[in-house]
Amino acid sequence: MSLTCGVDVGGTKILGGVVDEHGNVVEELRVVSPATDVAAIEDAITRLVTELASRHEVSAVGVGAAGYIDKSRSVVMFAPNLAWRDLDLRSELEARVSLPVVVENDANAAAWGEFRFGGGADVDDLLLVTVGTGVGGGVVLDGQLHRGAFGVGGEIGHMRVVPDGVLCGCGNHGCLESYGSGTALVREARAAAAGGSLLARTLLDRASGDAAAINGPMITECAQQGDPFCIEQLAALGRWLGEGVASLVAVLDPAVVVVGGGVSAAGDLLLEPIRAAFARELTGRGHRPLAEVRPARLGNRAGLIGAADLARYR
Ligand code: BGC
Ligand code: NA
Ligand code: ZN
Repeated sequence: MSLTCGVDVGGTKILGGVVDEHGNVVEELRVVSPATDVAAIEDAITRLVTELASRHEVSAVGVGAAGYIDKSRSVVMFAPNLAWRDLDLRSELEARVSLPVVVENDANAAAWGEFRFGGGADVDDLLLVTVGTGVGGGVVLDGQLHRGAFGVGGEIGHMRVVPDGVLCGCGNHGCLESYGSGTALVREARAAAAGGSLLARTLLDRASGDAAAINGPMITECAQQGDPFCIEQLAALGRWLGEGVASLVAVLDPAVVVVGGGVSAAGDLLLEPIRAAFARELTGRGHRPLAEVRPARLGNRAGLIGAADLARYR
């Protein structure tokens, strides 16, 4: 058995795991992400890897990070939702954990994980969409992860969908991420609840009357219990995402679209509206095959499993 370590650094949590060559997770650890504190994130990754490596013989480490990674898979050039700027994460981590490290965009890593071992294992061309703090994308074409000339392809969350729209963490206005992410979901629900909307009352009660305490899992739970407002909030998110997917499919023509990330825990409450908007907006619809929209089969482990696999074949 050959083992590598995968780490998925998100806006809210850091997941680490020891993974074998078949994509099985042998051990997994999770810590809360200190998203705004650069040094603390590195400390947390180092502790996590050191602990896992003390119990398993791992040969390399793959880190999926929510940002723009340079072509050499070392430097986080920019991250819309984390404090990383031109940070040579690979060198810093290699010095601290004494193992070879590769850094990959988190959504790319998840796309690779799903392609190798999950919802895309039966196809050659796949688009992965992660819906969490941000909206991320990973593109596998002809069995290869598409990174682009400078390493930063597939940033689907930063396609402009609304001219002069909501300000995004990347500095632009009207990005898909500002309408289709978990952050957008919570922003809209809080605004409705704080504005006294009677529709949002069940959700507000769930948050003990404090609109600012509303979070993503609360919205999903209320929707799953049949609350029409929360169902509609997820559907609105799905419409944005489905329309975005239609534009991307027009360019990429993947066989499947895999949807992952924290908000995808809502299942069909999110996926069905994505499918509907995608089918409604795809160019040439009715005269071409419709890519299948599937949930991520590896769930929230897709990123760490993909990162571990990329580290193995670095
Ligand atoms: C970032 C991507 C990342 C995605 C999901 C976006 O805001 O630009 O690099 O993959 O969030 O974490
Ligand atoms: Na990406
Ligand atoms: Zn943006």
